[in-house]
Amino acid sequence: MDDPGLDPATYAAVLKDLARVNRWTFAARPTLSFLARAMRGRTKLRLLDVGFGQGDMLRAVARWARKRGIEAHLVGVDLNPMSEAIARAATDPALGIDYRTGDYADLLGDGYDVIISSLVAHHMSEPQLAAFLRAMEQHSRVGWLVNDLHRHRLAYALFPVLTTMLRAHPIVRHDGLVSIARSFRPAEWRAKLDTAGLSCSPVRIVRTFPFRLCVERLR
Ligand SMILES: C[S@@+](CC[C@H](N)C(=O)[O-])C[C@H]1O[C@@H](n2cnc3c(N)ncnc32)[C@H](O)[C@@H]1O
Repeated sequence: MDDPGLDPATYAAVLKDLARVNRWTFAARPTLSFLARAMRGRTKLRLLDVGFGQGDMLRAVARWARKRGIEAHLVGVDLNPMSEAIARAATDPALGIDYRTGDYADLLGDGYDVIISSLVAHHMSEPQLAAFLRAMEQHSRVGWLVNDLHRHRLAYALFPVLTTMLRAHPIVRHDGLVSIARSFRPAEWRAKLDTAGLSCSPVRIVRTFPFRLCVERLR
């Protein structure tokens, strides 16, 4: 799906099916649980979602915040220039989500309470991931969350069952398996936090059903 030669209609179909897989695998649940803890006693949220894809996580956050009377300013940034139009088209403008194209590093100066991402970390090289972790630590006022996959034999075995049942796009079927194989285990995350110089910070590594492994930091 990262192939820049992919035509926009195919890319849109892939993002749509990825969002369906996200829904079936409760991808938003750990992020919303983290936000519930992060927002205790707060009524305003300025949040950055790195690598928003079709924007489904930001829509879930917007609805979650609205239900709780939280004034949310939600920004998404994605490197792929095709994501912005696709996410906008899938989003009710009343949700007020600000979708941008580019690298997250160029937006950090804007100031965020919380920085989140989902299914992004395992796409990064070692140095990119270390820089990402340090950037989130430095630029989030309240905390940050990496929501990613847990590399697990069972996840690898069950993913094709789910995507066959959902008749997901072949690129989603293929890339999903590659993503599971590239994702991390808890001990590997500890090493990555060490490499980023964050081993002293109170960072939690949390497993959530089914096969999500999240790395969270709350101040
Ligand atoms: C697998 S998709 C995940 C999309 C969505 N978050 C989801 O959970 O379905 C990873 C996305 O991260 C984006 N991405 C990767 N590195 C990025 C960076 N440095 N800044 C912004 N976006 C990035 C890619 O363009 C891609 O759309």
